[in-house]
Amino acid sequence: MRSVVVQQPGHLEIAERPLPQPAPGEVRIRVKHAGICGSDVHIFHGHNPFAKYPRVIGHEFFGHIDAVGEGVDPARVGERVAGDPVVSCGHCYPCQIGRPNVCTELQVVGVHRDGGFSEAVVIPAGNAHRVPETIPDDRATMIEPFTIAANICSQLQPGPLDVALVYGAGPMGLTTIQALRGVYGVKTVIVADRIDERLEMARVNGADHTINNGRENLADWLTQHGVRPTLIVDAACHPSILPEAISLASPAGRIGIMGFSADPCTISQQGITSKELTIISSRLNSNRFPMVIDWMARGLIQPEKLITHSYPAEQVLEAMETFEKDQKQCCKVLLNF
Ligand code: NAI
Repeated sequence: MRSVVVQQPGHLEIAERPLPQPAPGEVRIRVKHAGICGSDVHIFHGHNPFAKYPRVIGHEFFGHIDAVGEGVDPARVGERVAGDPVVSCGHCYPCQIGRPNVCTELQVVGVHRDGGFSEAVVIPAGNAHRVPETIPDDRATMIEPFTIAANICSQLQPGPLDVALVYGAGPMGLTTIQALRGVYGVKTVIVADRIDERLEMARVNGADHTINNGRENLADWLTQHGVRPTLIVDAACHPSILPEAISLASPAGRIGIMGFSADPCTISQQGITSKELTIISSRLNSNRFPMVIDWMARGLIQPEKLITHSYPAEQVLEAMETFEKDQKQCCKVLLNF
């Protein structure tokens, strides 16, 4: 089979590899489409501290099961599935309380083990989620990115009284905007980004107000409009954002962060406790595939709005370059196998 392999940082190739056989409890998926995420580019450039090389990258993938390992129902062969990249031990404290996404032995498909930029990938059978026929193949590839939004929203519990502020209108911000609008029905969605074209995407995906906070002062804008965000999602993930979010949030507000920057930022207890703010973090997803499949099946979210490009897998380098360098036009790029 052909696989996209990062042999070592900076060196990516399409390699011929033996077709993997599913171990007991696993299934093999024939990949149809896979989506490019920022973390794939980070592994390519050697900027992901968790990656081991050589590595088949890709953790957003859709296809059909073509082989099952011992102990897996053979009737699953032929099933259309999306793969959850979170592989967990099932025994540690986080796993026992339903948070396998932070399992002490966490293995992320495409990061710690070989992923979905390949004609075939093997994953635990429980990670392969059946996709109803009503969801087309390319949209099903978007299930994983929406699980990130599902995970942070499940913790923040948005509701109709909420005035939401989302920092960042990249794929993570846009999936969150769609969920806040289409699933949770928040009152208002305000989005801040520094790229006008991305703010336009935010409007298309459901934002009520957009602010270019590279040009305009966000605090001033909110004051002028008499708005105190009750729910803030940082999907831009710059360390300067959390202190600002704490100062902008309404009393009793909630703030969700999803960044991995190692750079420190300065926050004060007073800023948090005086308003009794809730600050949560969210990593990957904890069993959110069924939730997102249900959202898609019910038409609550529109994954097609995020898919801007599609390339044959052979053009992976061009696809990754477009994804990385053209933030004005590009949102989600799919590879076709
Ligand atoms: P992206 O780079 O495509 O989008 C980020 C957006 O934020 C860009 O449009 C950029 O212009 C904007 N931005 C940057 N600084 C800003 C600021 N100070 N104020 C407002 N906007 C600003 O990235 P993507 O794929 O949307 O991911 C966003 C972040 O989420 C990344 O840092 C990524 O590492 C993180 N992430 C976290 C996950 C998790 O499970 N916790 C999963 C996936 C991504």
